[in-house]
Amino acid sequence: MKDILQQLEERREVARLGGGQRRIDSQHAKGKLTARERIELLLDEDSFEEFDMFKTHRCTEFGMEKDKPAGDGVITGWGTINGRMVYVFSQDFTVFGGSLSETHAQKICKIQEMAVQNGAPIIGLNDSGGARIQEGVDSLAGYAEVFQRNVMASGVVPQISVIMGPCAGGAVYSPAMTDFIFMVKDTSYMFVTGPDVVKTVTNEVVTAEELGGASTHTKKSSVADGAFENDVEALAEVRRLVDFLPLNNREKPPVRPFFDEPGRIEKSLDTLIPDNPNTPYDMKELIHKVADEGDFYEIQEDYAKNIITGFMRLEGQTVGVVANQPMVLAGCLDIDSSRKAARFVRFCDCFEIPILTLVDVPGFLPGTTQEYGGVIKHGAKLLFAYGEATVPKVTVITRKAYGGAYDVMSSKHLRGDFNYAWPTAEIAVMGAKGATEIIHRADLNDPEKIAAHTKDYEDRFATPFVAAERGFIDEVIMPQSTRKRVCRAFASLRNKQQKNPWKKHDNIPL
Ligand code: HXC
Repeated sequence: MKDILQQLEERREVARLGGGQRRIDSQHAKGKLTARERIELLLDEDSFEEFDMFKTHRCTEFGMEKDKPAGDGVITGWGTINGRMVYVFSQDFTVFGGSLSETHAQKICKIQEMAVQNGAPIIGLNDSGGARIQEGVDSLAGYAEVFQRNVMASGVVPQISVIMGPCAGGAVYSPAMTDFIFMVKDTSYMFVTGPDVVKTVTNEVVTAEELGGASTHTKKSSVADGAFENDVEALAEVRRLVDFLPLNNREKPPVRPFFDEPGRIEKSLDTLIPDNPNTPYDMKELIHKVADEGDFYEIQEDYAKNIITGFMRLEGQTVGVVANQPMVLAGCLDIDSSRKAARFVRFCDCFEIPILTLVDVPGFLPGTTQEYGGVIKHGAKLLFAYGEATVPKVTVITRKAYGGAYDVMSSKHLRGDFNYAWPTAEIAVMGAKGATEIIHRADLNDPEKIAAHTKDYEDRFATPFVAAERGFIDEVIMPQSTRKRVCRAFASLRNKQQKNPWKKHDNIPL
């Protein structure tokens, strides 16, 4: 008996070493942690339960039958993050470069299925040379099996991908179908075809970092939702994100203890809006002053900065925030900001996370670039996402809400539950000057008359009161009491029930 126990321990020891000490050292030399070290940092201490530690590949090509490392290049299992269950897979670059074989894929599929069945998020730590070259089509089949399960899990359990090394070719499509992608600066990259193929086909000379590094994907392509300095920071931030999320689509998000008075008055907000309506101000100041303990977890911070998306808590309860940012492009909506916010709104709606929308939007960005790029369809994504969302929706208009953008930003007409406006709100078809120049074109050469018309338009329409008279705004509120009002609004909506008509699924303009 003692021998058998010892044998088990010995086999475990070998499995834990993956591709061996030399390759572990090489991984460390690149500034990367090993697959097991990553899991240790991600999960609560001693909470990891491993599956399939001894699983090996079945390939007999290219002498592979002589090299069958236990675990086959991916470590899978479950554990807890602050006491809440998650499933995890972590690709081991020290074993065949973390490449995906038939059996490697089977291990990932197993935890995907268990996660859906048992209702817990899946976190994938990606560090892989792609399809296991020796296995050919078996490996491709393995990828497709993982993809299919990504699709089935979408909207059922949160799926989070962390790219911590190479992720290239078709391999990128599994992370691409998950809810959030995070990357590690300088050590990770994602692309469909690498720099060499790019050079051959398009003659462009580009480095791997330029083509698919963290900066490219968080600033240019929007493929990734956040970039972190190193493995340790990335894993700590994933833990922080998981704390905001429900475990699955049947559960409410967790309610955390909070130490911030829900009725807190913020007098400084009464002077947040500058006297000149064209002067920007930082919408993040409002977000931080409304949130419990000022804590805000931003998603896609470096992309389409004219809209802000992320999570806060109100009375301990997770709330998704969508806010126009007047500091960038005057906070207008455009293709990128509409896509960014639409995906975020849909994530929140999938997982029963209430949405707070803070509005200061002068309209959609004009121009040929926008029209040729399809701003009509992309803008419609955000409109559609808000319109179909059945979670509690609370909106606060701080200043401008002009034109179609007024409708889009969680207006009353898109089933907003509470639509508040500050006294500084201007709810109109467009700004006073533009409006005057259209309806009083005959007076365009008379600056005095134009000024008088503009003043008249401002007095009549650049206020929240016409909308309030119609009931499109439920209440005009004091800026200083915003936290108190939105906390009470969300509290009153805790038992909200709203259903859309039965359908197989909708047809959002993609
Ligand atoms: C098998 C692989 C491998 C792979 C790397 N290795 N990639 N083994 N299949 N795809 C092995 C290497 O042989 C080496 O083994 C070890 O992993 C480390 O690789 P190195 O090249 O030494 O590491 P590094 O210099 O850091 O370069 C990493 C790399 C490079 C850039 C990922 O290995 C590489 O280009 N690999 C091939 C990538 C690729 O073309 N994959 C297929 C893409 S197509 P030893 O024994 O020396 O340690 C694809 C299709 C998916 O993925 C389709 C889904 C639908």
